Amino acid sequence: MSPHHRADVLVIGSGAAGLSLALRLAGDLDIHVISKGKVEDGATLWAQGGIAAVLDPADSLEAHVADTLAAGAGLCDEAVVRRVVSEGPGVLRWLVDLGVPFTPAEEEDAAVPWHLTREGGHSRRRIIHAADATGRALENTLAARARRHPRIRLFEDHVAVDLVTARKLGREPDRCLGAYALNRADGHVYTFAARHVVLATGGASKVYLYTSNPDTATGDGIAMAWRAGCRVANMEFNQFHPTCLYHPRAKSFLITEAVRGEGGVLRLPDGTPFMKRFDPRGELAPRDIVARAIDHEMKRLGIDCVYLDISHKPADFIRSHFPTVYARCLEFGYDMTREPLPVVPAAHYTCGGVMTDLHGHTDLPGLYAIGEVAFTGLHGANRMASNSLLECLVFAKLAADHIGGRARAVPLPDALPAWDESRVTDSDEEVVVTHNWHELRRFMWDYVGIVRTTKRLQRARRRAELLAREIDEYYGNFRVTADLLELRNLAVVADLIIRSAMARRESRGLHYTLDFPGPDDSRPPRNTVLVPPGHGGAAAVSASAS
Ligand code: FAD
Ligand code: SIN
Repeated sequence: MSPHHRADVLVIGSGAAGLSLALRLAGDLDIHVISKGKVEDGATLWAQGGIAAVLDPADSLEAHVADTLAAGAGLCDEAVVRRVVSEGPGVLRWLVDLGVPFTPAEEEDAAVPWHLTREGGHSRRRIIHAADATGRALENTLAARARRHPRIRLFEDHVAVDLVTARKLGREPDRCLGAYALNRADGHVYTFAARHVVLATGGASKVYLYTSNPDTATGDGIAMAWRAGCRVANMEFNQFHPTCLYHPRAKSFLITEAVRGEGGVLRLPDGTPFMKRFDPRGELAPRDIVARAIDHEMKRLGIDCVYLDISHKPADFIRSHFPTVYARCLEFGYDMTREPLPVVPAAHYTCGGVMTDLHGHTDLPGLYAIGEVAFTGLHGANRMASNSLLECLVFAKLAADHIGGRARAVPLPDALPAWDESRVTDSDEEVVVTHNWHELRRFMWDYVGIVRTTKRLQRARRRAELLAREIDEYYGNFRVTADLLELRNLAVVADLIIRSAMARRESRGLHYTLDFPGPDDSRPPRNTVLVPPGHGGAAAVSASAS
């Protein structure tokens, strides 16, 4: 294979964001999509609950906007919220036309042809879904379309290493020219040049020891953009999903929030419900409140988990609404039609990310970021359930419109300089990588988790700095592997999360610290914006109003 590839647009990531953008642009342009595993690997495949959009005439855009703003605890960018919510019905129709098999309405004369479920923070039923495996239906449909498309070329098992910028090549003005990517099959690094580059690499929840996310979620896009000089915002707001199955072999398998939406009750080991003590909305309070309530009860009582109980509903109802969850729990010996499920919180969603404008464009000309990798201003201090797939789809459309309008005005870059491997050797100390992976994820869980303190953050910071130095040294001496690349990126993300958390001297949304247990009402809420070295000479950390 030639070591150099060139296309109009390079998309890094093949989840809901990357593939929907590729499909929207491929009518007119040649698109390369690289994916570090198989095309379908990523968070999208695992999404259960659904996609939030105003489809019911009894619902309203205003209500969806108001719910999103309330969950975001003062930090949503209202213009972005309005735009995303108002594009919702259109992108959903696009998916229906592509053939995504959403669950139909239960009554024949329903006002909407699809069944709509409810989740935390939503004041109405507005979540369209494909039973409890919405992500699988969505990803499989998009992937099948992309595979068949003559102008989309998919590169599986290619791990993007870094972005190539004009500045790094000593050229002016700065612009993103493409990326280097490691081909896992042959161990070589290839160059991908493009007029426009789109990061659609998903989130970073693997930075925590316990996570609902698949292995792909190592924050690669955030780290690459940061190294390329882009600002990153609100990284302290990592969402913990309240209910993942507690079982040593379940790998934090998610029990969808829709179980609570359809009447599931959280109980202590003796059967007592407890959510109403924490919030009048009970089980349907926003996720930060539910996750913190569970964490509080687990610590107060010294228990390993709490229980989610929907066994009071008819068994047929449970099996037909939650076939995936039902089958998976049964594999671990739990029959949810008869008994409560043991559950714990786990890291689930990265609300912060690479700063973009309303077109998904970043600080670096020619570089876009869409989906979970991005910080658009939609989620504020806490993402509302099922708003993230919506964001992926809407920003894929907005970015595609922007790129499409100027695609050929930008010259196709020449082949990029080849990756230099002349000064590195194969590692004989892989244990350094595995050890540091574990250490990093452990201290992030223990010190930078659901409940924080300044002291814990300081401890985490010291460890993160030490690890970063060790990893950099290792990276400089040895041939790159996928594990090393991910570890290097996780170390960057951990540092960004810790610095953002230390900068926020209040509790707000998903960031809760015992040292500042309430919001700082003395000034308007502000985003935490981190500025990379060399970015227009600005300060390293700034807090700016959105
Ligand atoms: P992903 O789908 O994660 O795709 C990322 C892509 O980038 C992958 O193809 C990956 O291989 C690739 N990639 C990453 N790094 C590199 C690299 N260095 N080089 C090359 N490729 C790379 N949201 C909802 O709105 N509703 C839900 O019901 C819902 N349920 C969820 C359930 C679970 C268990 C999880 C984990 C998340 C859920 N979410 C849900 C969140 C939502 O699924 C994600 O936010 C969304 O799918 C992210 O899509 P994405 O396209 O940005 O990234
Ligand atoms: C879930 O199904 O509970 C996940 C929904 C989401 O993360 O938006």
